Amino acid sequence: MTSIEVPGDKSISHRVLMLAPLAGGPSTATGILRSDDVRATAEAMRRLGASIREEGNETWITGQVRWKAPEEEIDCGNSGTTARLLLGLLAGLGIHAVIRGDASLSRRPMERVVYPLQAMGARMRYLEQEGRLPVELEARCSGSLRSLKHRPRMASAQVKSCILLAGLAGGTRVEVSEARATRDHTERLLGALGAAIAVDRSADGGAVVSLEPRTRPSELSSLRLRVPGDFSSAAFLLAAGWLGAGEVQVLRVGLNPTRTGLLDVAREMGACFDLASEDVQAGEPTGSLRAVPSRLRAFDVDSGVLPRLVDEVPVLAVLAARASGVSRIRGAEELRLKESDRLAVLAGNLGRLGVRCRELADGLEIEGTDAPLAGRVRCAGDHRIAMAFGALGAAPGCRVSVDDASCVSISYPSFWQDLERISASEAA
Ligand code: S3P
Repeated sequence: MTSIEVPGDKSISHRVLMLAPLAGGPSTATGILRSDDVRATAEAMRRLGASIREEGNETWITGQVRWKAPEEEIDCGNSGTTARLLLGLLAGLGIHAVIRGDASLSRRPMERVVYPLQAMGARMRYLEQEGRLPVELEARCSGSLRSLKHRPRMASAQVKSCILLAGLAGGTRVEVSEARATRDHTERLLGALGAAIAVDRSADGGAVVSLEPRTRPSELSSLRLRVPGDFSSAAFLLAAGWLGAGEVQVLRVGLNPTRTGLLDVAREMGACFDLASEDVQAGEPTGSLRAVPSRLRAFDVDSGVLPRLVDEVPVLAVLAARASGVSRIRGAEELRLKESDRLAVLAGNLGRLGVRCRELADGLEIEGTDAPLAGRVRCAGDHRIAMAFGALGAAPGCRVSVDDASCVSISYPSFWQDLERISASEAA
């Protein structure tokens, strides 16, 4: 069996880098992810005046920053989380800035955050194309944001977190109602900082999250935490294990229930795993997971569970390709707005390998097969597509190559080495 510790959680890493500079004192974090997306956040925060020092696995972040308007435009690269959360923080701080991103990020919708921020009184405009980056924020007097109650039309942790950051930095009350609760890392970190955050969950899977401006940012406690491994990165290794590449154990991985919907589907498809809970870090549960090669059955996924596995749809698609029967993924229209149009890219690539797959407006229907699969996959620069097909390629009877192996640096730079360790230990 191969034991692997995956790199730190991407969502938590972004949030620590954005929230800790607001605190009243210095914070330290072990295991902040070192990847392109998180580097974009660290660099953006430095440009705004934050002091972030990195050495090995440790990161030191100074609190009570003297914020300054960045001299140049802030480039968020490929990272939607950096762009959307940063817009909320900047709107709250009232700082003038221009935010841009790479070609993929410039195609992704930004109205979902710009509209509520404008409703709070932030003055922002699109510089090139309506609804897309680059966006310019105007400077504004501190304390002049209005409070907001918002119900996003889509399930989005980025939208919720953007509004919470605007409320925190702008000193105003905000409330976000979610029809389906999304990942709650911002809420947990705000709780660890001592902010007045309240979460009211309903029996139907919804949540109302509110933040009161009772605590000024300078009164927030500093953070000291070890960032758990990223469940969404671990998912590719678990999938390789279930698909037969070899038994694998992932250590110290985040097990926040708003992220682990894949495990519910794994049970339904007969994928064998054990879970051992270990520790809680800044409100985040962690533990280890062991996956063993399994005979997989087809599954159905709908919008109810989707927010809890939104980044795992590529993994589900490759598992479905090897499961007996026809699997269905529905209610996943948001997947068209990720780093690539994931529904189209997954359908195209499965077809290229010889798997029968029907692309629906809001999902996929995939007929599993145990015939040999071979071919070259087009990743569209999307890290999660490359890793999902990497996991499939490690399965017995599959020969899959990807056209852009290097895009994994966005979230999991050591992915190919870790995957190779699983296959090598099976071959030994
Ligand atoms: C993220 C939220 C999710 C997810 C993304 C990271 C976050 O997007 O897909 O990879 O860190 O808040 P949504 O905004 O669609 O929830």
